Amino acid sequence: MWISSIACLVALTSFSNAASTFSPARPPAIPLAVRSPYLSTWLPAGRDAETSGELSAGVWPSYWTGDATAWTGFVRVDGRNYRWMGGADGDGATQVAFNYTSTQSIFTFHVGDAVELTATFLSPLYPNDFKRQSLVFSYLHVDVASLDGNTHDVQVYTDISAEWVSGDRTSKATWDYGTTGDVAFHKISKAAPVSFGESRDQAEWGNWYYATNAGDATTYQSGPDVDVRGAFTDDGKLKNSKDEDFRAINDRWPVFAFAVDLSSVDSSGSSALFSIGLCQEQAVQFSSRNGYGPSPALWKSYFEDDLAALSFFHGDFETELRDASTFDRKVADDSIRAGGEDYLTITSLTARQTFGATQLTGTEDKPYLFFKEISSNGNMQTVDVVFPFHPFLLYANPQLLKLTLEPHYEIQESGQYPNKYAMHDIGTHFPNGTGHSDGADEPMPLEECGNMIIMTLAYAQRADDNDYLGTHYDILKQWAEYLIEDSLYPAEQLSTDDFAGHLANQTNLALKGMVGLAAMSDIAARSGHDDDATRYLDTAKDYLAQWQDIGINKDATPTHTVLSYNDRESWGILYNLYADKELGLNFVPQTIYDQQSNFYPTVMREYGVPLDTRHTYTKNDWELWAAAVASDDTRGMFISNLAAWIDETPSNQPMTDLLETDTGAQPGLQFRARPVVGGAFALLIL
Ligand SMILES: *[C@@H]1O[C@H](CO)[C@@H](O)[C@H](O)[C@H]1NC(C)=O
Ligand SMILES: *[C@@H]1O[C@H](CO)[C@@H](O)[C@H](O)[C@H]1NC(C)=O
Ligand SMILES: *[C@@H]1O[C@H](CO)[C@@H](O)[C@H](O)[C@H]1NC(C)=O
Repeated sequence: MWISSIACLVALTSFSNAASTFSPARPPAIPLAVRSPYLSTWLPAGRDAETSGELSAGVWPSYWTGDATAWTGFVRVDGRNYRWMGGADGDGATQVAFNYTSTQSIFTFHVGDAVELTATFLSPLYPNDFKRQSLVFSYLHVDVASLDGNTHDVQVYTDISAEWVSGDRTSKATWDYGTTGDVAFHKISKAAPVSFGESRDQAEWGNWYYATNAGDATTYQSGPDVDVRGAFTDDGKLKNSKDEDFRAINDRWPVFAFAVDLSSVDSSGSSALFSIGLCQEQAVQFSSRNGYGPSPALWKSYFEDDLAALSFFHGDFETELRDASTFDRKVADDSIRAGGEDYLTITSLTARQTFGATQLTGTEDKPYLFFKEISSNGNMQTVDVVFPFHPFLLYANPQLLKLTLEPHYEIQESGQYPNKYAMHDIGTHFPNGTGHSDGADEPMPLEECGNMIIMTLAYAQRADDNDYLGTHYDILKQWAEYLIEDSLYPAEQLSTDDFAGHLANQTNLALKGMVGLAAMSDIAARSGHDDDATRYLDTAKDYLAQWQDIGINKDATPTHTVLSYNDRESWGILYNLYADKELGLNFVPQTIYDQQSNFYPTVMREYGVPLDTRHTYTKNDWELWAAAVASDDTRGMFISNLAAWIDETPSNQPMTDLLETDTGAQPGLQFRARPVVGGAFALLIL
C-alpha cells in the first residue's frame, strides 16, 4: 500500500512539473509577434525532445527561420527573480496554461505560490481597417495578480536583443532611447541598412521599436545582456542608461530593456504593456504600369513618421484588444458552426500565419497587398500560393484579394510579360517585384491561368464588382484560350505541387482548366460577352464529359479519380473540385463529389489522406479544400485528424503545410510559416 502511495506522489510531482494545459491544442510553434514577412517571431513548441511548449522553459523565441531573436521576460516577486520568457539563466516560473485564439497567444504562469502572471501576445488582424492593419506592430501585455490573497512587491522586466535587426549577427547595430508623449521607446537599426535587402530572410532596413508606458514606474537600460539582466535581478530596476558603444549584434550581445515597477500587487492585479514592431517607409519595389520602382508602406499614408505610428499603436491597445476579441469570436462562431471545435483548432492557428506573410503598401487611393511565399522560396505574389489561401482573403475582406491580384494585372496588361499564359509570380525574391520580362518564371501555365480566372471571378462575385471583370476581360480571355488548348490533355508540366514533380495528363489539373472555362463563361456573361459565354461553357461541358471517362477508374471500389489518365491504379486528392462549389457554378455533377467522399476514407492514414499515390505526405491546405466539399462524415474525418496532428506533430516549426500522413513529421523545412495554411478557411466561404 505505501509503495503505491509513493509512486502516486512521484507521479503527481512530475505531473505538476509539466502541468501546463494547452487549449485548444499544443501547436508546433506558437505565434508571439507575427504580422508581416519581417515581424515573425515564434516560440518553438512542438512535441520534440527540445521543447515543452512552455515559454518559461528556457527556449529562445525565434524568427520563422529558427534563428533566435532573443526576447526575455523576468518577474521579481518580493525580491526573488523568475524567468517567464527566453533562454537566459534563472529559475523558470511555472507555466500552467497556454491558450490561443486567431489573434492572441496567452500564457499563464504561477510564480511560486505568490502570484499569477499572464502574458498575452496580441498580433491584431484588421482586414477592414487598413490604417490599423498597415502597422507592423504587435503587443505584449503582462498582467500580474496575487494568488495567495497577500499583496506582493512585483517588478516586471523584458528586453529584446539586436538580433531582430539583421539576419547577419556579425553586422553592426545602432540604437537610441527616447520618449514621445507618454511612450518610452528603444529604437534599434542596422548601422548600414540595405534598402529592400534581406539576410537569412530578415529585413536589412527599417527601424525596430520596443516601447512601453513612460513614467516613474518605468526604468530602461541598453547594454551587454549579462549586465542589463544582472542590473534587474540585483535591484529590481534598471539604470536609465544607454550603451553608447555601437557594435556587432553578437559582440557582448547588446539588449534593450525595460523594467516596470508594479509595486504592491493584490488579487485585483496590475499590468504593463509593451509594443514591438518595425517601421519601413518603403516596403517593396515592383513593376507597376509605370515601370519598376518603390512602393511606400501604407502606414505612411496615415502617419507622419515612425513616432506618430508608434504612439498611435501603443495608445490604441484597449481598442485593438476589443476588436481582436470580436474578430476571434467571429472566427470561433463561424468555425464551430461549419466544422466543430476541431475545425476551430485549425483555423485559429492559421489566421496570423496567413496575414503574417502580407504587407500593405501604396497609398490610400491605390493600396496593394503584397506577400512573400516564405520558406519554399522568397517568390513574391506567387499565384498558386495565393490560390490556396484566397478563401481566407475572401472570408476576411474580398477587397484584399483584389489588392493581391492587382500587380499581376498591371504587369501583364502593360506588356511586361511575353508569355500567353499567366505569370507565376511577380518577382523571384520579395520585396523586389522585378517581374519576368524575359518570360522565364517557373512555368505553371494551366495552373496559373485557371487560378487567375477562378480567383478573379470569386472576388467579383463576393464584392459584386462586375466592372472589374470588364476591365480585365482581354487578358482573362487570353488565359481562357490557353485553357481551351491545354485542359483536356494537359501537357507534361508542373502543377502547384511542384515538389512532387512534372506529370502529363494530371486529372486534377485538367479539372481546374475545365472549371476555369466554366468560370470564364460566367465572367463573359457578367461582362456582356454572351457569345463567349456560350462558347466557353460548351467547351467546358464537352471536356468534362470526356474527362469523366478518362479521369475516373470505374472498376475500382469505390470508384475514384486517377492521378493521371493512363495510370489506372493511381489516385490523388481532387482539390480543384472546390472551385466549382466556391463559384456556385454547378458544373461538375454531384456524383463526382459523392464518389470522392466515399473514396477518401478508404485511403486515410493516421494524420491525413496522402496528396497522391507518389508519396505518403500530404498538403493540409488541399485536404481542407477537399473536406469543404465532401460529405459530413468525410469532412469530419479530415478535420479531426488534422486537429490531432496540430497537437501531436513532432515538428516545432511554424506550422507546415506539408506533413507525413503516418508520423505527422514535417518532411524538410521548405514548407513552414507559409501563408497557404489559410486554405483552412475553405469551409467558411461556401
Ligand atoms: C484557457 O482555456 C481553458 C480551457 O478552455 C479555459 O478554462 C481558460 O479560461 C482559458 N484561459 C484563458 C486565459 O483564456
Ligand atoms: C532587392 O533589390 C535591391 C536593389 O534595389 C538589392 O539591394 C536587394 O538586395 C534586393 N533584395 C533581395 C531580397 O534580393
Ligand atoms: C495523355 O493521355 C492521352 C490519352 O490517353 C494520350 O494519348 C497521350 O499520349 C497522353 N499524353 C502524354 C504526354 O502522356
